[in-house]
Amino acid sequence: MSRKITVLVIGAGNRGTTYSSYALFYPERMKVIGVADPQQPVRQKLQDAHQIPEENVFDDWVAAAEREKFADAVIIATPDRLHKAPAVAFAEKGYHILLEKPMAVTAEDCKEVVQACHSNHVILGVCHVLRYHPVTLMIKELLDAGLVGDICHIQHLGPVGFWHFAHSFVRGNWRNESESSFSLLAKSCHDIDLIRFWMGSKRCLKVSSFGRLSHFTKENKPEGAGTRCLDCSIEPHCPYSARKIYLERAEKGAFHWPVSVVCSNGGSDIETLTEALRLGPYGRCVYDCDNDVVSHQVVNMEFEGGATAAFTMVAFTEKLGVRTTTIYGTKGELSCKGEGDVEIFDFLQQKRTSFSPRTTPDIPASLNSHCGADYYLIHNFVSAVSESDPSRIPTSAEETLRSHLLVFAAEKARRENRVVVLETGRGNSHSQPAHTRGE
Ligand SMILES: NC(=O)c1ccc[n+]([C@@H]2O[C@H](COP(=O)([O-])OP(=O)(O)OC[C@H]3O[C@@H](n4cnc5c(N)ncnc54)[C@H](O)[C@@H]3O)[C@@H](O)[C@H]2O)c1
Repeated sequence: MSRKITVLVIGAGNRGTTYSSYALFYPERMKVIGVADPQQPVRQKLQDAHQIPEENVFDDWVAAAEREKFADAVIIATPDRLHKAPAVAFAEKGYHILLEKPMAVTAEDCKEVVQACHSNHVILGVCHVLRYHPVTLMIKELLDAGLVGDICHIQHLGPVGFWHFAHSFVRGNWRNESESSFSLLAKSCHDIDLIRFWMGSKRCLKVSSFGRLSHFTKENKPEGAGTRCLDCSIEPHCPYSARKIYLERAEKGAFHWPVSVVCSNGGSDIETLTEALRLGPYGRCVYDCDNDVVSHQVVNMEFEGGATAAFTMVAFTEKLGVRTTTIYGTKGELSCKGEGDVEIFDFLQQKRTSFSPRTTPDIPASLNSHCGADYYLIHNFVSAVSESDPSRIPTSAEETLRSHLLVFAAEKARRENRVVVLETGRGNSHSQPAHTRGE
C-alpha cells in the first residue's frame, strides 16, 4: 500500500531543491517537513516553498540529527565531503536516506555508510541519476535481449565541456580535491556505474588508469593576463573568460545555471553578477586558481570472461555532457550519442536499426533534466519508502558501493601508475587492490 511520506532536506541548494520540488507536484505522495542549511536565503526559500514550521528549520545538519526522528526519510544533498557524517548519523536515527553522489569521498567511508544503513535497517538510495535515464535503460534492454550477442568491449566517453570544466572544476566547488573529491569520483562515478550496469553480472577484475591536470595551471598563464577576467587586457582572446561564460549569458537574460551559482545570494541582475565576478571565485583567471583536479583521464577495465571497457573523461570538448557509447558484441555493434536514438548494426543481416528511448511528456520542468531521470529517481525512492520495498531502488547500497569501489580502484591505479586487481572470484563484494604489475 502506498502512503504519503515525510521528508527532511539536508542541504537546500541546487539538488536539494530539485528533489524537494517533487512534493509540490505530488503532495499526496511526499511532504517536506524539515530543512537544514547554513545559508539563510536558500534555507528560507525552501521553507517558504514547503511551508515548513519554524521548529523544523536548522542551520546545520548536526542540529537536525540531534532531534528525535520526526520524518520518514532524509534527502542529503550537501557538498561531497559532507555526505558520510550525516548519512551515518541519520541512519542511526532510523531515517531512510536518499544520498547524493558520491556516497563518500573514501572507500572506507562508503563502506561505513552502507554498514550503518544495514545495521539500522534503513533504505539507502544513491543519486546515480543516469541509471534512471531512458537511454541507459533502452541500452540495457537491447543488451539483455541479446541483440549484440556477448559483449566484448564497451567504449564510453564523458565529455565535460570546456566552459563547464572551467566553471565547476577550475573556479568552482569541485576544483580542489581537499575541498571536494577527485575528478573521476566527482564527475565520472556515474559513467563507471553505467559501464558496470551494462556489463551485467560480470564483475570487474582489473583496472588501470592515466590522466592529469593540463592547461589550467599557473605555468600556462598567458603573458599580460590579469588575475580577474573583468580587468584582464587579453580577455577577448580567452575562451574561458568569466565575462563570456557568465556576463554575456546574463545580458541575454539567462540567469539560470551557471549564472545562478555565481550569484549565490539569490540576486539576478547584472550589478549583482558584476560584483560577484569582481570579488568572488568565479571571476578569477583560470590560470590563477587553487585547482588541482585532473582535466582528462582514461580508465581501462577487464571484466569476468575477458570483456573489456575503456572510459574517457575529458574537459576540452565542445559538447557538455553528451556522452557517447559504443558497445561491441559478437553479433552486432550498439552505438548511442547523448539523448538520441540507440542504433544497432546487426552483423548477420548487415542492417542498422534505430530504437527510440521512451519519451516522458508529463514530467514537471524542475524534475525533467536528464530526460526525466531526476523525476524517476525521487519517484522510485518515495515508492520504496512508502511501500517498504527497497527493490524499487536500482541504485541500492550494495550496487552503488560496487561502482564507488571501482572508481577508487581506478584512481589508485592512476596515482600509483599500476594495474589494480579488484576481485579474485565471485562472492567477494569488496575491492581488494593488491597486485602490482611492473609498469
Ligand atoms: N546526481 C547528480 O547528477 C548531481 C548533480 C550535481 C551535483 N550533485 C551532488 O549533489 C551534492 C550537492 O550539490 P549541489 O549542486 O546541490 O550543491 P549546492 O552548493 O547548490 O548545495 C549544497 C548545499 O549544502 C549546504 N550545506 C553546506 N554545509 C551544510 C551543513 N553543515 N548542513 C546542511 N547543509 C549544508 C550548502 O549551504 C548548500 O546550500 C554534491 O555532492 C554534488 O556532487 C549530484
